[in-house]
Amino acid sequence: MSNPSPAAVKRPESPAVAAAKAQLEIFAKCRAFTRARETREAGLYPYFKPIEESHDTYVVIDGEEKVMVGSNNYMGLTHDPRILEAARDALYKYGSGNTGSRFLNGNLDLHDRLEVELADYVGKEAALVFSTGYQTNLGTLGALIGRGDTVFVDKFDHASIQDGIRLGHGRVQRFNHDDFATLRRMLDAEAPGRGRMIAVDGVYSMEGDIAKLPQLCELKREFGAALLVDDAHAMGVIGESGAGTGEHWGMTDEVDVILGTFSKSFASIGGFAAGEEQVIHYLRNQARALIFSASMPPASVATVLKALEIIREEPERRERLWKNTHKMMDGFRSIGFDIGPTETPIVPILVGPEKTTFLFWRALYDAGVFTNPVVPPAVPDGSCRLRTSYMATHTNEQLDFVLEQVERVAKELNVV
Ligand SMILES: Cc1ncc(COP(=O)(O)O)c(C=O)c1O
Repeated sequence: MSNPSPAAVKRPESPAVAAAKAQLEIFAKCRAFTRARETREAGLYPYFKPIEESHDTYVVIDGEEKVMVGSNNYMGLTHDPRILEAARDALYKYGSGNTGSRFLNGNLDLHDRLEVELADYVGKEAALVFSTGYQTNLGTLGALIGRGDTVFVDKFDHASIQDGIRLGHGRVQRFNHDDFATLRRMLDAEAPGRGRMIAVDGVYSMEGDIAKLPQLCELKREFGAALLVDDAHAMGVIGESGAGTGEHWGMTDEVDVILGTFSKSFASIGGFAAGEEQVIHYLRNQARALIFSASMPPASVATVLKALEIIREEPERRERLWKNTHKMMDGFRSIGFDIGPTETPIVPILVGPEKTTFLFWRALYDAGVFTNPVVPPAVPDGSCRLRTSYMATHTNEQLDFVLEQVERVAKELNVV
């Protein structure tokens, strides 16, 4: 038998060529990702707008003032002089950062104090502070949920809940928003012996409606499930003292784990988990997002401590927030908008198609109104919206201006 000709022999690829090809594979998706550039070229890219000045209820961008109705600063505390003073004092006392994890060199007496005060505020035995709200979900769910557990999540839950469950390698069962009949079937069908947790947002961030704790707690009791409520948008806002969804329904004792973030009503950044002392003790020693990440900086912690004090002592702020919220809900409804099932200062204007939503956003932006366009995957296809949200500190004049501009633009675009 003759030897095969040299041309017929397939030469093995050199490691360098194989490595270069693999790298191309990795980056192929980046090169193919043109959507954002195209939107920018069309003048309709709404993200990463560089704010030059911020004044609580209005900002300056490109030298122009815009009324801010796209912020989560519900209590209007980001520029409160008492908060700025507390933050400045902490900055000078402790420095600009903690340069380490709370586990090691980054734990301040301020973090410990904040945990005691938060636990008291939300009515739980103990609390644990993380560096962001997102990390709070990663750390809490990542540590509590294991391969043998199933977490039942509402499809409108925040992404950080889903990401946290993935970190713990837990099984996820997703039910349609507020579809308690399906949730019941899923709980019933779950194999015996598996841990069960129901995890929901207290206030849904794109709809503004409140989790129905009475139905969820009934199922929790019947099937022996734990209940976790992410109160990112509820803290400071709902409940008699602003302590969130549990307080709103008078069911705090039935919520096993309450999560909160400081990036909204608390005018800062960071987050916390609150619950039974043994659970929090476990998280303190096991949550990777806490242990392997640097702690909340001093000025941010001092901000939250002061914000909490103000929120507890000045219920009139919450009253102003609700007054502003109801004014906008009534105003949008009377223009003819569908604002969905909102019950909170998150007031979405449902538009539908993505293109119209971006055009609507742009025209309002040019007119001096800052809103947030929300498109898939943050919301289902065809339910694009402008998400607006309100503060205790918005003035009537600002809100009237927003209503006027929204109505004018919507009519020009035939949205109403
Ligand atoms: C329900 C919910 N959970 C968690 C987060 C994450 O919080 P943070 O932005 O403070 O990290 C958000 C942020 O919007 C949220 O809406």
